[in-house]
Formats: sequence, structure tokens, C-alpha cells
Amino acid sequence: MGALKVLVFFGVIVGCLSAKQFPENFLFGAAGASYQIEGGWDADGKGLSMWDVFAHTPGKIKNNDTGDVACDSYNKYKEDVAILKQLGLKVYRFSISWPRILPKGIPTEINQAGVDYYRNLIKELKDAGIEPLVTLYHWDLPQHLAELGGWLNPRIADYFGDYARICFELFGDQVKYWLPLNEPGTTCVHGYETGDLAPGLPLSGEGIYQCAYVHVLAHAKAWHIYNDEFRSKQGGKVGFNNVCFWFYPKSNNSEDIEAQTRAMEFGCGLYANPIYNGDWPQVVIDRVAYRSKKEGYSFSRLPTFTEEEKQYINGTSDYYGLNMYTSYLVEALADESFDSPSLEQDLAYNSTADPSWAHSASEWLNLDPPGIRNVLNYVNEKYNPGEIVVTENGWSDNGELDDQGRVTYLKGYLSNVLDAIVEDSINVIAYTTWSLMDNFEWNQGYTQKFGIVQVDFDSPNRTRTLKSSAEWYKRVAAAKEIVD
Ligand SMILES: *[C@@H]1O[C@H](CO)[C@@H](O)[C@H](O)[C@H]1NC(C)=O
Ligand SMILES: *[C@@H]1O[C@H](CO)[C@@H](O)[C@H](O)[C@H]1NC(C)=O
Ligand SMILES: *[C@@H]1O[C@H](CO)[C@@H](O)[C@H](O)[C@H]1NC(C)=O
Ligand SMILES: *[C@@H]1O[C@H](CO)[C@@H](O)[C@H](O)[C@H]1NC(C)=O
Ligand SMILES: *[C@@H]1O[C@H](CO)[C@@H](O)[C@H](O)[C@H]1NC(C)=O
Repeated sequence: MGALKVLVFFGVIVGCLSAKQFPENFLFGAAGASYQIEGGWDADGKGLSMWDVFAHTPGKIKNNDTGDVACDSYNKYKEDVAILKQLGLKVYRFSISWPRILPKGIPTEINQAGVDYYRNLIKELKDAGIEPLVTLYHWDLPQHLAELGGWLNPRIADYFGDYARICFELFGDQVKYWLPLNEPGTTCVHGYETGDLAPGLPLSGEGIYQCAYVHVLAHAKAWHIYNDEFRSKQGGKVGFNNVCFWFYPKSNNSEDIEAQTRAMEFGCGLYANPIYNGDWPQVVIDRVAYRSKKEGYSFSRLPTFTEEEKQYINGTSDYYGLNMYTSYLVEALADESFDSPSLEQDLAYNSTADPSWAHSASEWLNLDPPGIRNVLNYVNEKYNPGEIVVTENGWSDNGELDDQGRVTYLKGYLSNVLDAIVEDSINVIAYTTWSLMDNFEWNQGYTQKFGIVQVDFDSPNRTRTLKSSAEWYKRVAAAKEIVD
């Protein structure tokens, strides 16, 4: 063996030893959501959702953009599936539009064109060897139900149960991974506390907790319906989807460490703890009760679960669907006044980004790759969820094709997911990056681009073009390791 051959041989061995692999059956995929990609907002019998109404209200969305056409996936879903296949991806997370199936949200009328759309999409995916991971509700509540009080009305849990049952009946023979809800925390904070997302109600300090309560009941109802009526014949899994960011204390003072606990429990725990442990986090119960009393209420602004409800919600998740983008530093703030109830005052911390983290085009999205490994360890220890799917994560830019910022971010993030699997023995079974395509980014309209595939929103064809990140991700999915 010559010296060069020895070097090459040595290099191959070191390469094999150092390249950590994702498990053989790990699924790489991509994600999207009905209102953000489908368009066809009033096509073929679809009913109105609260997002149609919100986006049609001038001044709510940047540039007054709407999801009326979006990526036109209602017509172009075959192209979407062809791209997933071309990239070698094995799982696609998409959501069903509730009012496309039930125009008013109620079971009296089922819209056959909507049913056909999703059955066709699922068939196209299965034929391409791609597993559908289906979200039942990604924020497009039927407007009729929004008018009935939306997520403030506990009866919405019953309406949601009827809708979930219909979806399990219609699609459950083909779908093995369900997520009833998407990010209840985002809806409750932005829809019912600050009001900058639909339904746009700034009910500071009160709406958020009622909204959280109704979401928990709705999720549990869908899980029980699946468990009692479908699990034995369909054999799928119903997971809880939740967004959990990571919070570092800004200092090691006890106040900042308590602020970190509050940040995790009001963010992640408010929704996960009821589902996994049967009640709100104690920190949240104590804090909202304390402030409510000082504010003059005779009760806590946080609703109380009855014993029966605690039993009903406890343990209603078969896997954890984790949406995780980034981290923040938190610094404790003192209680200053008790004259205006708000989540901000309940939280009592100031959150900032570490100046060393790179910033995406989105004001809230910084680059902190280790954050995901911290959250995976936190969720695993606290909730013991069995399997975890990272159901959302991604990077926002201005839509450039050579998106090296996204590649750098995903590389760092996936390296930390891999470390959590290999070093920390956490059972992460899949990753669906947000998002497959540039799309309607809620109140940011089309100004924030999260896709690994570019969409030309100026062309009636909504032409799709792979970005550098898509080419890179394709090689990661094929090699099952982090490649350059
Ligand atoms: C949005 O629509 C409102 C009402 O028509 C108008 O006043 C406003 O200038 C529009 N905003 C943009 C960015 O076009
Ligand atoms: C807090 O203490 C930990 C453990 O000693 C250390 O890693 C971390 O850097 C400290 N944080 C700050 C902000 O000083
Ligand atoms: C939830 O279930 C777990 C496991 O059975 C149990 O330990 C816990 O006490 C229950 N939580 C409540 C609030 O009942
Ligand atoms: C939060 O922190 C930022 C950055 O350090 C600072 O500019 C701001 O004044 C702080 N806000 C409060 C309410 O303390
Ligand atoms: C749209 O696609 C059709 C069919 O591929 C093509 O003929 C047409 O030129 C395209 N139009 C634009 C504006 O890209």
C-alpha cells in the first residue's frame, strides 16, 4: 500500500467513525398548511374560514395580502408531491381545511369536492411512497364557529370532535399520523391576547387562558374519539402539536432562573402539561391566581379543570409533534402594577436575542442551533412522550434561490437533533422542515419566505423552483447524515 492509499484508507475510516447517522427508519420531510398554500378560498363549495375574513379586512396583513390564491396548491398539488418525491422526502405534513370539508363547520353538510381534494392528495403521496402526516386544524376555523365564540366557547371542542370523527372516517384508512391541532399557543397569544392574528381579539390577560382551556379539551376529544372508535381498525397515532422555544436565563441570579421557568411553563407547559400530566403547570396556576387576586378578581383568570376533565385530558397523546425554531434570553422584571391584566405582566420577563446569534429576515427568528437539543431534552424529561416528531422548524429570508443562510441554519439545527438522538438517546423519529414552499406567512403576507422551494407569486402559474437548501436537504435525506 503506497502512502497515498494509506492516507485515503485512513481518511475513509475516520470519515465513517465521525459521521453520525440518523436512524435507518428516520423520516425526512417537509410541511405546509391549508390556508398558507392552497388558495381556492371559495372554490367548489368551500365555506369561509376566520382567516379568509381576517385577511380580507384591510390593514390586518402586510400589503393587504391574502391567501386567496397563495401557492394554488388546490390545483397544483401534483406538482407539490412531485417535488417532494424528487427530493427523496418520505413524509409530508399538511393540514385539512375544516371549512373545505364542512363549509359551516357542522356535520350537516359535507363538501364532496373538498373530500375529493384531500383523498387525491393522499393517494398521490402514497403512490410516491410518502407518508401523510395530517394536521386537522391549522388555524382556519370555519367563520360560522368563530361567530359562535371561536376558541373562547367550550362547545367548540364538541364541534371539533364531530369534524375529527368525519376526517378519521374519510381518510383514516390511509393516514397513520394525525395531529388534531397546530400550535395552540400561537393562536391563543396572537388571536386572543394581542389580536394580531385571526380572529384578532385583543383580550389582554383573559382570552389566552380560556383559549388554552378550549384547545386542550378539543385535542383530548379528538384523541378519545380516535382511541375509542378508530384505533383498533386503523392503527394510527394521534399526537399533540405544541410550539416550545428555548429560554436561557440572562444571568444566573435566582430571579432570572425563575423567569426561565416561567417562560418555559407559560410557553410550552401551558398546553403540554394538561395533555401529559392532567393539569396546568403549578407555576402558571400560582402566578395567575396571585395576580388575579391583586387585580381585584374573586377568581383566577386561568380556568380550573374539573376532576372529570383532568381525567379526560390526561395522557391524550401518542407522540409529541414539536414545533421549535429558536431561543431567547430572559431577564426577570418586577411586578409594577395590578391595574391592567395581561399575559406580559403574568410573564414578568424581558426576552431578547443573544447578539452573537445570526438574525433571519423575521424579527423573532435568530440562529441558536443548540436550542433544539435543550428543548428535546426538556420535553423528553418532563413529558416522557415516547416518540417525538419535529413537525416544524425553518428559516426566513427574502426568497433568494441561493439561500445559504437557510442551509447554515438547518445544518446547525439538524446536527443538534442528531446529537439529541445519538448522544442523549431521544426518540426523534421524523423531521418535517417548515416549509416545503414559500407561502402566505400569516400577518406578514408574502414578505417572509420560509420555503426550501421558491414560488413565483407574480406568475399565474405560481412556478416552483428549487433553492440551494432543497438541493442540500435532498443530499441529507439520501445520506441520512449532515452533509456539506
Ligand atoms: C390596505 O388597504 C387599506 C384600505 O383599502 C388602505 O388604506 C391601505 O393603504 C392598504 N395598505 C397597503 C399596504 O396597500
Ligand atoms: C450560568 O451557569 C452555568 C453553569 O455554571 C453556565 O454554563 C452559564 O454560562 C451561566 N450563565 C450566565 C449567564 O452566566
Ligand atoms: C395523570 O396521569 C398520571 C399517570 O397516570 C398520574 O400520575 C397523574 O397524577 C395524573 N394527573 C392528574 C392531574 O390526575
Ligand atoms: C428589555 O431589554 C432590552 C435590551 O436589553 C432593553 O432595551 C429594554 O429596555 C428592556 N425592557 C424592559 C421592559 O426592561
Ligand atoms: C405557464 O405554464 C404554461 C404551461 O407550462 C406555459 O405555457 C406558460 O408560458 C406559463 N406562463 C407563465 C407566465 O410562466
